[in-house]
Amino acid sequence: MDINLESYLNGRVGRINEALLFLLREMTENQVPTRIQEAMAYSLMAGGKRIRPVLCIAAAEALGAPSIDNIEDYNANIWLAACALEAIHTYSLIHDDLPAMDDDQLRRGKATCHVAFGEATAILAGDALLTVAFEWLSSMKAETKTQAVAQIDIIHRISKAAGYSGMIEGQMRDLTAENVKLAPDELERMHRLKTGALIQSAIYTGARLAEGNAEQIHRLDQFAQFIGLAFQISDDILNVEGNPDEMGKAVGTDSQRNKNTYPSILGLEESKALGQKIINNALKMLDGFDSRSDPLRVIASYIIERTC
Ligand code: IPE
Ligand code: IPE
Ligand code: MG
Ligand code: MG
Repeated sequence: MDINLESYLNGRVGRINEALLFLLREMTENQVPTRIQEAMAYSLMAGGKRIRPVLCIAAAEALGAPSIDNIEDYNANIWLAACALEAIHTYSLIHDDLPAMDDDQLRRGKATCHVAFGEATAILAGDALLTVAFEWLSSMKAETKTQAVAQIDIIHRISKAAGYSGMIEGQMRDLTAENVKLAPDELERMHRLKTGALIQSAIYTGARLAEGNAEQIHRLDQFAQFIGLAFQISDDILNVEGNPDEMGKAVGTDSQRNKNTYPSILGLEESKALGQKIINNALKMLDGFDSRSDPLRVIASYIIERTC
Protein backbone atom coordinates (compact mmCIF):
# COMPACT_ATOMS: atom_id res chain seq x y z
CA MET A 1 0.00 0.00 0.00
CA ASP A 2 1.46 3.34 -1.02
CA ILE A 3 0.44 5.92 1.53
CA ASN A 4 0.78 9.65 1.35
CA LEU A 5 0.94 10.46 5.04
CA GLU A 6 -0.33 14.01 4.74
CA SER A 7 -3.44 13.19 2.74
CA TYR A 8 -4.05 10.05 4.84
CA LEU A 9 -3.96 12.06 8.09
CA ASN A 10 -5.98 14.95 6.66
CA GLY A 11 -8.68 12.56 5.51
CA ARG A 12 -8.80 10.75 8.84
CA VAL A 13 -8.80 13.93 10.90
CA GLY A 14 -11.63 15.29 8.73
CA ARG A 15 -13.81 12.25 9.40
CA ILE A 16 -12.94 12.19 13.12
CA ASN A 17 -13.90 15.85 13.41
CA GLU A 18 -17.22 15.12 11.70
CA ALA A 19 -17.86 12.26 14.11
CA LEU A 20 -17.04 14.42 17.12
CA LEU A 21 -19.33 17.19 15.88
CA PHE A 22 -22.11 14.68 15.29
CA LEU A 23 -21.84 13.31 18.83
CA LEU A 24 -21.63 16.81 20.32
CA ARG A 25 -24.80 17.80 18.44
CA GLU A 26 -26.53 14.65 19.63
CA MET A 27 -25.52 15.59 23.16
CA THR A 28 -27.10 19.04 22.92
CA GLU A 29 -30.24 17.53 21.32
CA ASN A 30 -30.51 20.51 18.97
CA GLN A 31 -30.97 22.90 21.90
CA VAL A 32 -28.73 25.89 22.49
CA PRO A 33 -25.60 24.41 24.14
CA THR A 34 -25.29 24.95 27.87
CA ARG A 35 -22.16 26.64 29.21
CA ILE A 36 -20.57 23.32 30.07
CA GLN A 37 -21.34 21.96 26.61
CA GLU A 38 -19.80 25.09 25.08
CA ALA A 39 -16.61 24.60 27.06
CA MET A 40 -16.44 20.91 26.13
CA ALA A 41 -16.91 21.71 22.44
CA TYR A 42 -14.45 24.59 22.61
CA SER A 43 -11.57 22.35 23.68
CA LEU A 44 -12.63 19.26 21.76
CA MET A 45 -12.99 21.10 18.45
CA ALA A 46 -10.01 23.44 18.89
CA GLY A 47 -7.90 21.31 16.56
CA GLY A 48 -5.44 18.65 17.56
CA LYS A 49 -3.79 15.88 15.63
CA ARG A 50 -6.36 13.24 16.66
CA ILE A 51 -3.58 10.70 16.85
CA ARG A 52 -5.31 8.43 19.39
CA PRO A 53 -8.50 7.96 17.31
CA VAL A 54 -6.38 7.67 14.16
CA LEU A 55 -4.41 4.86 15.80
CA CYS A 56 -7.55 3.13 17.05
CA ILE A 57 -9.02 3.11 13.55
CA ALA A 58 -5.72 2.10 11.90
CA ALA A 59 -5.35 -0.84 14.29
CA ALA A 60 -8.87 -2.02 13.52
CA GLU A 61 -8.33 -1.72 9.77
CA ALA A 62 -4.93 -3.49 10.03
CA LEU A 63 -6.78 -6.52 11.37
CA GLY A 64 -9.39 -6.52 8.63
CA ALA A 65 -12.18 -4.32 10.00
CA PRO A 66 -14.18 -2.52 7.30
CA SER A 67 -12.64 0.78 6.20
CA ILE A 68 -14.13 3.83 7.90
CA ASP A 69 -14.47 5.25 4.38
CA ASN A 70 -17.56 3.05 4.19
CA ILE A 71 -18.95 3.80 7.66
CA GLU A 72 -21.26 6.79 7.45
CA ASP A 73 -23.15 6.15 10.69
CA TYR A 74 -21.38 8.08 13.43
CA ASN A 75 -23.09 5.94 16.03
CA ALA A 76 -21.14 2.92 14.75
CA ASN A 77 -18.88 1.31 17.34
CA ILE A 78 -15.62 2.40 15.74
CA TRP A 79 -16.69 6.05 15.80
CA LEU A 80 -17.98 5.91 19.36
CA ALA A 81 -14.70 4.37 20.51
CA ALA A 82 -12.50 6.73 18.50
CA CYS A 83 -14.38 9.78 19.80
CA ALA A 84 -14.29 8.50 23.38
CA LEU A 85 -10.49 8.25 23.20
CA GLU A 86 -10.25 11.81 21.91
CA ALA A 87 -12.61 13.06 24.64
CA ILE A 88 -10.44 11.49 27.35
CA HIS A 89 -7.30 12.94 25.79
CA THR A 90 -8.87 16.41 25.54
CA TYR A 91 -9.98 16.25 29.17
CA SER A 92 -6.39 15.39 30.14
CA LEU A 93 -5.11 18.44 28.24
CA ILE A 94 -7.63 20.78 29.89
CA HIS A 95 -6.60 19.60 33.35
CA ASP A 96 -2.89 19.46 32.42
CA ASP A 97 -3.05 23.17 31.50
CA LEU A 98 -4.73 24.32 34.75
CA PRO A 99 -2.86 26.77 36.99
CA ALA A 100 -2.40 24.06 39.62
CA MET A 101 -0.78 21.79 37.04
CA ASP A 102 1.31 23.13 34.12
CA ASP A 103 -0.32 26.57 34.13
CA ASP A 104 -0.40 27.03 30.35
CA GLN A 105 -2.27 29.76 28.46
CA LEU A 106 -2.20 28.38 24.92
CA ARG A 107 -3.39 25.02 23.62
CA ARG A 108 -4.17 23.94 20.08
CA GLY A 109 -3.56 27.52 18.98
CA LYS A 110 -6.27 28.94 21.24
CA ALA A 111 -6.56 30.21 24.80
CA THR A 112 -6.62 27.24 27.19
CA CYS A 113 -10.02 26.25 28.52
CA HIS A 114 -9.52 27.90 31.92
CA VAL A 115 -8.36 31.14 30.28
CA ALA A 116 -11.41 31.20 28.01
CA PHE A 117 -14.05 29.97 30.47
CA GLY A 118 -12.57 30.32 33.98
CA GLU A 119 -11.02 27.68 36.16
CA ALA A 120 -14.17 26.15 37.63
CA THR A 121 -15.77 25.65 34.20
CA ALA A 122 -12.53 24.16 32.85
CA ILE A 123 -12.36 21.64 35.68
CA LEU A 124 -15.97 20.66 35.06
CA ALA A 125 -15.52 20.53 31.28
CA GLY A 126 -12.66 18.09 31.84
CA ASP A 127 -14.80 15.98 34.17
CA ALA A 128 -17.63 16.02 31.63
CA LEU A 129 -15.39 14.96 28.73
CA LEU A 130 -14.00 12.09 30.78
CA THR A 131 -17.43 10.86 31.73
CA VAL A 132 -19.05 11.32 28.31
CA ALA A 133 -16.31 9.07 26.94
CA PHE A 134 -17.68 6.22 29.03
CA GLU A 135 -21.23 7.10 27.98
CA TRP A 136 -20.12 6.65 24.35
CA LEU A 137 -18.13 3.48 25.04
CA SER A 138 -21.03 1.90 26.87
CA SER A 139 -23.41 2.77 24.00
CA MET A 140 -21.46 0.61 21.56
CA LYS A 141 -23.60 -2.22 20.28
CA ALA A 142 -22.72 -5.86 20.74
CA GLU A 143 -24.47 -8.38 18.52
CA THR A 144 -22.60 -11.48 19.67
CA LYS A 145 -21.24 -12.70 22.97
CA THR A 146 -17.70 -12.19 21.62
CA GLN A 147 -18.52 -8.56 20.87
CA ALA A 148 -20.07 -8.06 24.31
CA VAL A 149 -16.94 -9.43 25.99
CA ALA A 150 -14.75 -7.24 23.78
CA GLN A 151 -16.78 -4.16 24.74
CA ILE A 152 -16.33 -4.79 28.47
CA ASP A 153 -12.62 -5.52 27.97
CA ILE A 154 -12.20 -2.27 26.04
CA ILE A 155 -13.95 -0.24 28.73
CA HIS A 156 -11.88 -1.95 31.42
CA ARG A 157 -8.64 -1.32 29.56
CA ILE A 158 -9.38 2.35 28.84
CA SER A 159 -10.42 2.95 32.48
CA LYS A 160 -7.15 1.46 33.69
CA ALA A 161 -5.12 3.44 31.15
CA ALA A 162 -6.74 6.75 32.07
CA GLY A 163 -6.83 6.14 35.80
CA TYR A 164 -4.76 5.89 38.97
CA SER A 165 -2.47 3.17 37.63
CA GLY A 166 -2.08 4.83 34.22
CA MET A 167 -2.28 8.43 33.07
CA ILE A 168 -3.20 9.90 36.46
CA GLU A 169 -0.23 8.21 38.13
CA GLY A 170 1.99 9.52 35.33
CA GLN A 171 0.68 13.05 35.80
CA MET A 172 1.18 12.74 39.57
CA ARG A 173 4.80 11.70 39.04
CA ASP A 174 5.32 14.53 36.54
CA LEU A 175 4.15 17.10 39.06
CA THR A 176 5.86 15.72 42.15
CA ALA A 177 9.15 15.34 40.28
CA GLU A 178 9.36 19.03 39.37
CA ASN A 179 12.72 20.19 40.76
CA VAL A 180 13.77 16.57 41.48
CA LYS A 181 16.03 14.79 39.00
CA LEU A 182 14.67 11.39 37.99
CA ALA A 183 16.82 8.42 37.00
CA PRO A 184 16.38 7.42 33.33
CA ASP A 185 14.28 4.36 34.22
CA GLU A 186 11.96 6.48 36.37
CA LEU A 187 11.61 9.00 33.56
CA GLU A 188 10.71 6.22 31.14
CA ARG A 189 8.12 4.86 33.58
CA MET A 190 6.57 8.32 33.99
CA HIS A 191 6.30 8.80 30.21
CA ARG A 192 4.82 5.35 29.68
CA LEU A 193 2.16 6.18 32.28
CA LYS A 194 1.26 9.77 31.49
CA THR A 195 1.15 9.40 27.69
CA GLY A 196 1.91 5.82 26.66
CA ALA A 197 -0.94 4.13 28.51
CA LEU A 198 -3.77 5.94 26.70
CA ILE A 199 -2.11 5.48 23.30
CA GLN A 200 -1.70 1.79 24.08
CA SER A 201 -5.37 1.52 25.01
CA ALA A 202 -6.35 3.21 21.71
CA ILE A 203 -4.60 0.52 19.68
CA TYR A 204 -5.97 -2.23 21.93
CA THR A 205 -9.48 -0.84 21.36
CA GLY A 206 -9.13 -0.98 17.58
CA ALA A 207 -7.65 -4.47 17.71
CA ARG A 208 -10.46 -5.80 19.89
CA LEU A 209 -13.19 -4.14 17.80
CA ALA A 210 -11.71 -5.93 14.77
CA GLU A 211 -11.82 -9.21 16.73
CA GLY A 212 -8.08 -9.77 16.36
CA ASN A 213 -6.63 -13.00 17.72
CA ALA A 214 -4.48 -13.17 20.88
CA GLU A 215 -1.18 -13.15 18.98
CA GLN A 216 -2.17 -10.14 16.84
CA ILE A 217 -3.39 -8.24 19.88
CA HIS A 218 -0.19 -9.02 21.78
CA ARG A 219 1.99 -7.81 18.89
CA LEU A 220 -0.01 -4.63 18.44
CA ASP A 221 0.15 -4.02 22.18
CA GLN A 222 3.95 -4.16 22.05
CA PHE A 223 3.97 -1.90 19.00
CA ALA A 224 1.77 0.52 20.95
CA GLN A 225 4.02 0.49 24.01
CA PHE A 226 6.96 1.56 21.89
CA ILE A 227 5.17 4.30 19.98
CA GLY A 228 3.48 5.62 23.14
CA LEU A 229 6.85 6.19 24.78
CA ALA A 230 8.32 7.69 21.60
CA PHE A 231 5.34 10.06 21.34
CA GLN A 232 6.18 11.67 24.69
CA ILE A 233 9.91 11.77 23.88
CA SER A 234 8.98 13.79 20.75
CA ASP A 235 6.74 16.03 22.85
CA ASP A 236 9.74 16.73 25.12
CA ILE A 237 12.01 17.44 22.15
CA LEU A 238 9.45 19.77 20.55
CA ASN A 239 9.16 21.67 23.83
CA VAL A 240 12.85 22.54 23.34
CA GLU A 241 13.16 23.15 19.61
CA GLY A 242 9.64 23.21 18.16
CA ASN A 243 7.92 26.18 16.54
CA PRO A 244 5.22 27.48 18.91
CA ASP A 245 3.11 28.86 16.03
CA GLU A 246 3.04 25.50 14.34
CA MET A 247 2.44 23.62 17.58
CA GLY A 248 -0.22 25.97 18.92
CA LYS A 249 1.31 25.81 22.39
CA ALA A 250 4.23 27.41 24.21
CA VAL A 251 7.76 26.02 24.08
CA GLY A 252 10.54 26.21 26.65
CA THR A 253 8.04 25.62 29.43
CA ASP A 254 9.45 22.27 30.56
CA SER A 255 12.81 23.77 31.48
CA GLN A 256 11.12 26.82 33.06
CA ARG A 257 9.23 24.46 35.36
CA ASN A 258 12.17 22.14 35.93
CA LYS A 259 10.30 19.20 34.47
CA ASN A 260 12.00 15.88 33.94
CA THR A 261 12.22 15.34 30.20
CA TYR A 262 14.36 13.29 27.85
CA PRO A 263 16.33 16.30 26.60
CA SER A 264 16.97 17.44 30.20
CA ILE A 265 18.24 14.01 31.26
CA LEU A 266 19.87 12.62 28.09
CA GLY A 267 20.39 15.72 25.94
CA LEU A 268 18.72 16.50 22.61
CA GLU A 269 20.79 14.34 20.29
CA GLU A 270 20.64 11.25 22.46
CA SER A 271 16.89 11.74 22.90
CA LYS A 272 16.41 11.84 19.13
CA ALA A 273 18.55 8.73 18.65
CA LEU A 274 16.58 6.92 21.33
CA GLY A 275 13.28 7.95 19.72
CA GLN A 276 14.48 6.48 16.43
CA LYS A 277 15.60 3.26 18.11
CA ILE A 278 12.25 2.87 19.85
CA ILE A 279 10.37 3.37 16.57
CA ASN A 280 12.58 0.77 14.86
CA ASN A 281 11.64 -1.65 17.64
CA ALA A 282 7.97 -0.75 17.18
CA LEU A 283 8.16 -1.47 13.45
CA LYS A 284 9.64 -4.91 14.11
CA MET A 285 6.47 -5.82 15.99
CA LEU A 286 4.55 -5.43 12.72
CA ASP A 287 6.68 -8.01 10.88
CA GLY A 288 4.32 -10.59 9.50
CA PHE A 289 1.37 -8.16 9.28
CA ASP A 290 0.21 -7.52 5.71
CA SER A 291 -0.09 -4.22 3.84
CA ARG A 292 -3.27 -3.32 5.73
CA SER A 293 -0.96 -2.34 8.60
CA ASP A 294 1.04 0.08 6.43
CA PRO A 295 -0.81 3.08 7.91
CA LEU A 296 0.44 2.00 11.37
CA ARG A 297 3.96 1.86 9.95
CA VAL A 298 3.86 5.36 8.52
CA ILE A 299 2.23 6.78 11.64
CA ALA A 300 5.02 5.23 13.74
CA SER A 301 7.65 7.06 11.70
CA TYR A 302 5.61 10.26 11.76
CA ILE A 303 5.61 10.20 15.58
CA ILE A 304 9.30 11.03 15.73
CA GLU A 305 9.46 13.13 12.56
CA ARG A 306 6.52 15.39 13.39
CA THR A 307 7.04 19.10 13.88
CA CYS A 308 3.85 19.73 15.87
C1 IPE B 1 -0.08 16.45 23.79
O1 IPE B 1 -0.74 15.52 23.00
C2 IPE B 1 0.06 15.95 25.16
C3 IPE B 1 0.68 14.63 25.29
C4 IPE B 1 0.09 13.65 25.88
C5 IPE B 1 2.01 14.43 24.76
P1 IPE B 1 -0.92 15.71 21.44
O2 IPE B 1 0.40 16.10 20.84
O3 IPE B 1 -1.57 14.50 20.88
O4 IPE B 1 -1.89 16.95 21.37
P2 IPE B 1 -3.04 17.32 20.32
O5 IPE B 1 -4.17 16.40 20.58
O6 IPE B 1 -2.47 17.15 18.94
O7 IPE B 1 -3.39 18.74 20.63
C1 IPE C 1 0.80 15.87 28.96
O1 IPE C 1 2.13 15.97 29.13
C2 IPE C 1 0.33 14.52 29.42
C3 IPE C 1 -1.13 14.49 29.59
C4 IPE C 1 -1.91 15.47 29.27
C5 IPE C 1 -1.68 13.32 30.16
P1 IPE C 1 2.80 17.40 28.92
O2 IPE C 1 2.40 18.34 29.97
O3 IPE C 1 4.25 17.17 28.71
O4 IPE C 1 2.15 17.83 27.51
P2 IPE C 1 2.05 19.27 26.88
O5 IPE C 1 3.45 19.56 26.44
O6 IPE C 1 1.51 20.19 27.91
O7 IPE C 1 1.16 19.11 25.70
MG1 MG D 1 2.08 18.11 32.03
MG1 MG E 1 1.62 20.29 29.89
